[in-house]
Amino acid sequence: MQILQGKKILLGISGGIAAYKTPELVRRLKDQGADVRVVMTEGAKAFITPLTLQAVSANAVSDSLLDTQAELAMGHIELAKWADFILIAPATADIIAKIAAGMASDLLTTLCLATAAPIAIAPAMNQQMWHNRATQNNINTLTSWGYTVFGPGAGEQACGDVGLGRMLEVDELVTLTCQEFTQPIQKTQEKEQAKPLAGQQWLITAGPTREAIDPVRYISNHSSGKMGFAIATAAQELGANVTIISGPVNLTTPEFCQKIAVNSAIEMHQQATTLAENADIFVACAAVADYRLDTIANEKIKKSHDTMRLNLIKNPDIVADVAAMTNKPFTVGFAAETQDVEHYARGKLARKNLDMIAANNVATSGQGFNSDDNALTVYTANDEKVLPLTNKAELAKQLVQFIQDNYQNSLKS
Ligand code: PMT
Repeated sequence: MQILQGKKILLGISGGIAAYKTPELVRRLKDQGADVRVVMTEGAKAFITPLTLQAVSANAVSDSLLDTQAELAMGHIELAKWADFILIAPATADIIAKIAAGMASDLLTTLCLATAAPIAIAPAMNQQMWHNRATQNNINTLTSWGYTVFGPGAGEQACGDVGLGRMLEVDELVTLTCQEFTQPIQKTQEKEQAKPLAGQQWLITAGPTREAIDPVRYISNHSSGKMGFAIATAAQELGANVTIISGPVNLTTPEFCQKIAVNSAIEMHQQATTLAENADIFVACAAVADYRLDTIANEKIKKSHDTMRLNLIKNPDIVADVAAMTNKPFTVGFAAETQDVEHYARGKLARKNLDMIAANNVATSGQGFNSDDNALTVYTANDEKVLPLTNKAELAKQLVQFIQDNYQNSLKS
């Protein structure tokens, strides 16, 4: 049986070495009954000629937005509407980045914007480029928009490296394309179940801030960033696009998360209030210094006196300022307390206009600052949830789930 009988498949080819496999791909899609049209980027033409693809597809190949003859024959909007399915193979890091940025700089990227058809990409690039955070963020963005990613495969690469990044074999691409038509409902359900936070932008502050006294000294605290980074990992694993604004920490940035490094509360405030514009969820886990020096000495201060006074002024309250924004994200604060935990936490929840606050007792040994474990009691205006002592990775998963439940409820009300 020809599974693709009568299906119109638009094959987008971008400029990677794997482009040499595309004539065979076109043939095999046609063997399954598909009508195949090819769109090439400028880069693709350095690897394979339009004439070859025209011959195997038996259709004119399109490669320019500005070609009057091609636009007369089948304009780009017509082409976008014609397709039942778009497969981009090979999909280079460059074309993936352009699509994720919403660009319409050539015919292929324009078609991706203009089509209502499902789109699959078959990445093909060097393994380091594949693992790069920028590429992974772009892939996360595309999957959150409903794009399907075929592969990539692992093995030896054209550049001599070994690892993930090879375009899948033609057989595999044809099988996966056929599955797009035979199992679309099941696939949609699987995707939804697998990634409950897909499409959500999470912004998380983590770690301490440092308030400079002079070029060599600063005021700070014991935050390690472990709690904030664990929340980032948990949210990312559930499909969220995660940005961490972090003070100075000695931690590896969680895979596929973007980290913005800052030092002072003022820097963290500037980044958080800018990035929160596009966030769905804001989690303020950083231990922000409440005060900074009113004047930072330009030179190292000398020990010329037995005593010394530092004049401190209040830092802006980051989480309160985010919560005061017109289009504020769902805003979660933390409360680090040593006594009367519920009383002080509920006070901060109300005073800072937060949706939720996670309180920890930082006077109890074995939890809180710079420990691998923690325990939280999470408060909303009318709910309370105890998350007992466990490691921060597990605790973060429970917290992220509680945030997600409350965030979804907030969207209904
Ligand atoms: O980093 P770890 O070593 O893993 O430790 C985790 C932690 C103990 C730091 C973490 O669990 C925690 O409690 N973080 C919040 C620490 C804190 O500063 O709490 P606070 O009660 O002083 O502040 C209340 C809230 O206001 C917090 O969300 C804080 O980020 C925010 N804040 C405070 C001051 C300020 N100028 N701007 C803020 O946004």
